[in-house]
Amino acid sequence: MDSSLTPPENLWYPYVQMKNRPEYPEIVRAEGCILFTRDGRELIDGISSWWSVIHGYNHPALNKVLVDQANRFSHVMLGGLTHQPAQLLAAKLAEICPGDLNHVFFSDSGSVAVEVAVKMAIQFHRNQGNSEKRRIISLSGAYHGDTFKTMELGDDSDFTGAFSHVLPDTVRVNVPKGGYNAEEADLKSPIAELQDTVVRHHPQTAALIVEPILQCAGGFRIYSPAYLDAAREICDRHNVLLIYDEVATGFGRTGRLFAANHANAVPDIMVIGKALTAGYLGHAATIASNKVYRAFLSNESSKALMHGPTYMGNPLACAVAFEGIRLFQEENYLEKINHIHQLIVQEFEKICSEKIVEKRAIGGMGVIEVKSSATLSNFRSFAIERGVWIRPFASYLYVMPAYVISDEQLLKILRVMREFFD
Ligand SMILES: Cc1ncc(COP(=O)(O)O)c(C=O)c1O
Repeated sequence: MDSSLTPPENLWYPYVQMKNRPEYPEIVRAEGCILFTRDGRELIDGISSWWSVIHGYNHPALNKVLVDQANRFSHVMLGGLTHQPAQLLAAKLAEICPGDLNHVFFSDSGSVAVEVAVKMAIQFHRNQGNSEKRRIISLSGAYHGDTFKTMELGDDSDFTGAFSHVLPDTVRVNVPKGGYNAEEADLKSPIAELQDTVVRHHPQTAALIVEPILQCAGGFRIYSPAYLDAAREICDRHNVLLIYDEVATGFGRTGRLFAANHANAVPDIMVIGKALTAGYLGHAATIASNKVYRAFLSNESSKALMHGPTYMGNPLACAVAFEGIRLFQEENYLEKINHIHQLIVQEFEKICSEKIVEKRAIGGMGVIEVKSSATLSNFRSFAIERGVWIRPFASYLYVMPAYVISDEQLLKILRVMREFFD
């Protein structure tokens, strides 16, 4: 074997060619929205560690519940045992989720929680004697995770290209264009396409899965809530379940607690993760409606949901999540997010370049899409030199900060984005 190909590193990093990855800043401490590096830099974090750290780093209240829970017990299995942190969090999620999404199944990551949602949807139909309904329809531009089923549902070859020869064909419909306030005319064709697709495939289709209102990793596209209401009606007419993947959008990112809150429609199954545990521990939840849950109640054990990640309902994760939701509700986060939105929109106005295709913003997310990904290739080092941490990918330069970010910090991030294009 050619020794020059022998990787010098034990730690294998995500989404990168290890042979020539750039040097990464080493973080030794983090506080609020600031990352402190070993070589003495202070970086304002503009992307809240893949959108999870909504309350900022090293939060005293979250630290306290974590330590208190660790002093009681850090983990016990949920198979055959139970505990209050999981019970309390499940009850809290049932309270804050829309409609009758009352039944909470925990898992350890967003991808796994989407897998669970798909399993629930397929078994929902099977438990009622219909094993034919096993397809999942998804949207163009979707991203639902990196496990096999979630790659299959996603639509971004940057993530799935290496497996294109393994992944089965899926039924996919076009995500609506025109943004949040799309005209009826813009929605006509995607709704008609969804209607036609569901009519054609419903005997084999268990569910439609969408990232409601905002697609993130697949391209930061924003679409109208009216599409969700139309999708709900179409699904209902054809006995197809509706799944919302709110792993990225949940907990305020679109300006409401959940993206679902922008529409009247309520999904049958909703998936949350990321901000659920505020960047403390990997955890996620798949939340089912009464109708879905009831289809699993039976005297036959074969109708039970056969899934059980080792760390599901981890007490540390549940305690932190419960406290995070309390902070969100008691400290008026929706107002903070609205303010972040105003600043993003105001400063984006000042950013102009012929390299830009579009600037988009919703809630606590702003993205600048450029014509060529090469444009952004040195943004990361440009920003680090100026004390900002942002990791653009493909042709998207985006900001998704912690909601506790100060005006000064956010304005600095947005100024660095502007200077890059000046
Ligand atoms: C919409 C959506 N679904 C699922 C996932 C996967 O979550 P995880 O990285 O926790 O597996 C992500 C992650 O970015 C996501 O944005």
